[in-house]
Amino acid sequence: MSPGSVVDIVIEPQGWHFEAQCGLSLVESARAAGIVLPTSCRNGTCRACLCRVLRGRVRHLIEWPGLSAEEKREGCILPCVATPETALHIEAPKAFRAPEPPPPST
Ligand code: FES
Repeated sequence: MSPGSVVDIVIEPQGWHFEAQCGLSLVESARAAGIVLPTSCRNGTCRACLCRVLRGRVRHLIEWPGLSAEEKREGCILPCVATPETALHIEAPKAFRAPEPPPPST
Protein backbone atom coordinates (compact mmCIF):
# COMPACT_ATOMS: atom_id res chain seq x y z
CA MET A 1 0.00 0.00 0.00
CA SER A 2 1.56 3.31 -1.00
CA PRO A 3 1.85 6.25 1.40
CA GLY A 4 -1.31 8.32 1.29
CA SER A 5 -3.57 5.38 0.36
CA VAL A 6 -6.68 5.16 2.52
CA VAL A 7 -7.88 1.91 4.09
CA ASP A 8 -10.85 0.96 6.25
CA ILE A 9 -10.23 0.21 9.93
CA VAL A 10 -12.74 -1.57 12.17
CA ILE A 11 -12.39 -1.28 15.94
CA GLU A 12 -13.65 -4.25 17.94
CA PRO A 13 -15.63 -4.87 20.06
CA GLN A 14 -17.34 -1.52 19.36
CA GLY A 15 -17.72 -2.18 15.62
CA TRP A 16 -16.70 1.40 14.77
CA HIS A 17 -15.15 2.16 11.38
CA PHE A 18 -12.75 4.88 10.36
CA GLU A 19 -10.55 5.59 7.36
CA ALA A 20 -6.80 5.57 7.94
CA GLN A 21 -4.11 6.95 5.74
CA CYS A 22 -1.10 4.70 5.07
CA GLY A 23 1.98 6.44 6.45
CA LEU A 24 0.10 8.10 9.34
CA SER A 25 -0.13 6.42 12.73
CA LEU A 26 -3.40 4.69 13.56
CA VAL A 27 -3.77 7.00 16.57
CA GLU A 28 -3.61 10.07 14.30
CA SER A 29 -6.05 8.68 11.74
CA ALA A 30 -8.49 7.58 14.47
CA ARG A 31 -8.34 11.01 16.11
CA ALA A 32 -9.09 12.70 12.78
CA ALA A 33 -12.23 10.53 12.65
CA GLY A 34 -13.28 11.48 16.21
CA ILE A 35 -12.08 8.27 17.86
CA VAL A 36 -9.55 8.27 20.68
CA LEU A 37 -7.17 5.36 21.12
CA PRO A 38 -5.77 5.91 24.65
CA THR A 39 -2.11 6.97 24.60
CA SER A 40 0.59 8.41 26.80
CA CYS A 41 4.10 8.68 25.32
CA ARG A 42 3.14 8.46 21.62
CA ASN A 43 6.63 7.25 20.77
CA GLY A 44 6.30 3.48 21.12
CA THR A 45 7.79 2.98 24.58
CA CYS A 46 5.12 3.18 27.33
CA ARG A 47 2.69 0.60 25.85
CA ALA A 48 -0.37 2.53 27.03
CA CYS A 49 -1.86 2.20 23.54
CA LEU A 50 -1.20 -1.53 23.10
CA CYS A 51 -3.92 -3.30 21.12
CA ARG A 52 -4.20 -6.32 18.85
CA VAL A 53 -4.66 -6.81 15.13
CA LEU A 54 -7.39 -9.39 14.46
CA ARG A 55 -7.19 -9.13 10.67
CA GLY A 56 -4.84 -7.28 8.32
CA ARG A 57 -1.28 -6.04 8.53
CA VAL A 58 0.49 -2.99 9.98
CA ARG A 59 4.01 -1.62 9.83
CA HIS A 60 5.64 0.04 12.83
CA LEU A 61 7.13 3.44 12.06
CA ILE A 62 10.02 2.92 14.49
CA GLU A 63 12.58 0.15 14.40
CA TRP A 64 12.16 -1.16 17.95
CA PRO A 65 8.58 -0.77 19.20
CA GLY A 66 8.21 -1.85 22.85
CA LEU A 67 6.81 -5.30 22.09
CA SER A 68 8.21 -8.75 22.84
CA ALA A 69 8.61 -11.29 20.05
CA GLU A 70 5.74 -13.28 21.56
CA GLU A 71 3.46 -10.21 21.63
CA LYS A 72 4.28 -9.55 17.97
CA ARG A 73 3.39 -13.15 17.11
CA GLU A 74 0.07 -12.69 18.93
CA GLY A 75 -0.71 -9.65 16.77
CA CYS A 76 -0.06 -6.97 19.40
CA ILE A 77 0.76 -3.53 18.01
CA LEU A 78 1.44 -0.04 19.31
CA PRO A 79 -0.93 2.12 17.24
CA CYS A 80 0.82 5.38 18.20
CA VAL A 81 3.71 4.24 15.99
CA ALA A 82 1.95 1.80 13.64
CA THR A 83 0.50 2.52 10.23
CA PRO A 84 -1.79 0.23 8.24
CA GLU A 85 -0.53 -1.73 5.25
CA THR A 86 -3.97 -3.23 4.58
CA ALA A 87 -7.53 -2.78 5.81
CA LEU A 88 -7.61 -3.81 9.47
CA HIS A 89 -9.73 -5.14 12.27
CA ILE A 90 -8.15 -4.17 15.58
CA GLU A 91 -9.19 -5.06 19.12
CA ALA A 92 -9.12 -1.88 21.21
CA PRO A 93 -11.75 -2.13 23.96
CA LYS A 94 -10.58 1.13 25.63
CA ALA A 95 -11.13 3.25 22.51
CA PHE A 96 -13.76 5.97 22.95
CA ARG A 97 -15.47 8.66 20.92
CA ALA A 98 -13.91 12.10 21.27
CA PRO A 99 -16.26 14.57 22.91
CA GLU A 100 -17.89 17.01 20.51
CA PRO A 101 -16.19 20.40 20.59
CA PRO A 102 -18.37 23.11 22.12
CA PRO A 103 -20.27 25.26 19.62
CA PRO A 104 -18.49 28.49 18.74
CA SER A 105 -19.57 31.36 20.95
CA THR A 106 -21.26 34.31 19.31
S1 FES B 1 1.36 5.77 23.63
FE1 FES B 1 3.16 4.97 24.54
S2 FES B 1 3.58 3.23 23.31
FE2 FES B 1 1.88 4.14 22.31
